[in-house]
This record gives sequence, C-alpha cells and structure tokens, in this order.
Amino acid sequence: MSTEKIIGNLAPIHGELTPPGDKSISHRSAMIGSLASGTTLVRGFLDSEDTNSTLGAMKLLGVAIESLDTHVEIKGTGQSGLRKPKEIIDAGNSGTTARLLMGLLSGQDFLSEITGDKYLQARPMRRVVDPLRLMGANITGIEDGNKLPVTINGGELRGISYEPPVASAQVKSALLLAGLYADGVTEVKEAKATRDHTERMLSYFGAEVQTDGNTIRIEKQDDFKARELLVPADISSAAFFIVAALINPGSEVLIKNVGVNPLRSGIIDILKQMGGDIEITNYSDSGCEPLADILVRSSDLKALEIKGDMIPKAIDELPVIAVAACFAEGETVIREAGELRVKETDRIKAVTTELRKLGASIEELDDGMVIKGKGALKGAKCSGWGDHRIAMAVAVAATRAEGETEIEGSECVSVSYPGFFHDLRHLRKN
Ligand code: S3P
Repeated sequence: MSTEKIIGNLAPIHGELTPPGDKSISHRSAMIGSLASGTTLVRGFLDSEDTNSTLGAMKLLGVAIESLDTHVEIKGTGQSGLRKPKEIIDAGNSGTTARLLMGLLSGQDFLSEITGDKYLQARPMRRVVDPLRLMGANITGIEDGNKLPVTINGGELRGISYEPPVASAQVKSALLLAGLYADGVTEVKEAKATRDHTERMLSYFGAEVQTDGNTIRIEKQDDFKARELLVPADISSAAFFIVAALINPGSEVLIKNVGVNPLRSGIIDILKQMGGDIEITNYSDSGCEPLADILVRSSDLKALEIKGDMIPKAIDELPVIAVAACFAEGETVIREAGELRVKETDRIKAVTTELRKLGASIEELDDGMVIKGKGALKGAKCSGWGDHRIAMAVAVAATRAEGETEIEGSECVSVSYPGFFHDLRHLRKN
C-alpha cells in the first residue's frame, strides 16, 4: 500500500491541464466498438485499471484489441461475433464493466461468468439482474444474483418497458445493450435523467435509438459499422482541479478538452451557483459528445442545497463538492444522494469520516451530508478507503489544510486516474 503526503497551503494552483479520457465513454467505446463490424479507432481512450478491465473482458470474448500510443484499435466482430470466454471475466473494481456486460452477455448464446474485486463483490447487482430477468435472461449468482460472481446463461430475450427504481445510467445502459438482441421494443423510462453516453454512442455508430424526454427506446439492430471516435477528457477527473483552484486563493487553472455533456456537468452548475468563477470556452464536438475548455479562478464560495435532478448529473463529483462546501459561507446540504452509499465504498461515510479528521464540520444524513463551511482545515493521517474518488477528494482538501496530510492507500487512484498525484504536484509548482 502506498501513502501520499501533501503539504497544504503551499501556493496557488496555476497552469493548464488536459485530464485523461472519460471513463464512462471509454468503457462504452470498448463494448460498442467490439459489436460494430470493422475496425474502430478510439483516440483519448482512458488508460486506467477500470477501463483496462473492460478491454480485458472484450478480449476474452474474442475481440482483437490493440492499445497503441495514440489510440486503441478494436477489430469489431459484429453483433453476433462474440465468443464464449475461456475464463471467468474479472471486472476488477469496475461497476460499469460488470453491469453493462451483464446486459450485453444476456443476449449471447453462450455461458459466461463475471466476478470483481472485494469492493465490487459487495455492490448490489439485482438492479440490473431483475429487469434482465424480465427480458428472459438466465442469471444466477450469490444472494440470488445480487452479488458477484454471477453466471449468465445467455439466450433469447424479449423487449420490456421498464422504470428503474434508482437513477442509474448503468442500469439503463445494460438494458439498452440487451435490447440490441431482444425481440420487440426495449424501453427505459427514467424518473431522473442519467448520463446518456450509451444512447449517443449507439446512434453515432448508426444504431437506431429513440429518445423522447426521459424515455429511451431501442430495437434489435442490424450490424452497425465501425467508426473513429474521440473520447473527451473526463469531467469527473477535472472536478478535482476545479475545486482545488476554487479553494486555494490566487489560483487560475485552464482545463482543456473536457467532456461537458449536460448530464455530466452538474458540478459546473453547482459550483457556479455556489459563486465559483468558472468560464466555459472553446466549445467543440467529438461527433457524439460536446467538449470545452474550463477556466477556473479561486473564489469566495457560498453554501447551497443540492438535491433532485442535480444529483445524477453530479453523482461522482459529490465527494469533492463536499470539499468545496468546507470552504463555503453557510451550511451546504446534500440530499437524495443515498446512491453514494453503494458506490465503490459508502461515500457518505467515507467523506464525512475523512473530512472530519481534517477538522471539517460535516454530518451524515441517511441520503446525504450537511457541511458547515468556512472552517480552516488541518492536516491529518487519512485513508483513501480503497476508493479512487475518496483518495482524490481528500487530496484536494489537503491542499488547503494547514500542515501535512497523509493519504494511506493512495494507489487506488489508478482505477480512474493513474497520473493524478503527478498532475496535482505539477499544477501546485507552476
Ligand atoms: C456510470 C454511472 C454511474 C456512475 C459511475 C459510472 C456509468 O453509476 O456513478 O461512476 O458509466 O454509466 P450508476 O449508474 O450506478 O448511477
């Protein structure tokens, strides 16, 4: 286990940075590229433990994939070209790999098994297994299929109309991927809109996906064709530098080529409402996703109530938003975010425990947190909880805490951002 040391209040954060590729989009490019016929070139593919789990899975399913310096090359097999894996598929720490693959593999006429690391084995899978069973999927596993490992005896599926009880892009995406193989229409009706990368990418590859408000429909498709694809930089990784710049006086950071899909950029809306000086410039389009540069300057923040539709749009950024709230005037309340309890770790407990060690005034709610801002933080011995986003959020808090903070288990950042500490050091030296 490695320990990262950060001395706080050193200097402002300055400079330019392009964070690594978007994790959600990279996963989907590996899966959808594998199903396309022909060779898909993916530029900006995220090189991380999670996304490498997806590449490993697709290779086990018979897809030839080569990771080169500038891009990943995927020799798609077409929709019916996947092969029975010779080994159990290991999704590692990656919920997206496990859950999306459950949908995809439910429609294959072979048997496959999926497992994951101890954190992923503790996470609920029935949210995906239940609707897939309604489509006719044959899935067995621990706790009646709620926990990994699961076995999927793929076969014929039928379309269903489904309203997921939790707001989850992973559930929606699993059903849409299964829907590629199902008879009739597969329809997902979302109460709150979640990230739509799967829909966008399937359409970009020429599949027919209909979106009508928060209802998404798909039918069995003829083979779609390979395409070149650009993965924008991950806003969830940019988030750590956005907050670090806001809370460290005198900072100015330009974060380039970031994916600003409206269903992912809730953090920008939230931090702007908190008084953050954030400018979005230089908009462009990757073909299926919007990108832009984000200019951030340190700001006096004020508290905000964060709930409702804002939550799915910023779900992965809530830990670092809690860090921003420590430096905001007033009481920030985050509600309706109970999903945080079933992420890589219980992120409500993890964030409150670690920020309290640094002296923050923060309380747990069943479905969120209450943070009283404007307290000065003080360095302490902290843990990353084996969760990349907790380790990175603690690191950001540590940049503004007096003295030294140690983050034990800091290597877990490799799940989404292997170069995080390097990049943070670089911006603090400018
Ligand atoms: C993801 C969806 C979200 C998010 C996760 C990635 C995706 O999870 O928290 O980090 O790529 O679809 P849920 O679908 O569980 O909300």
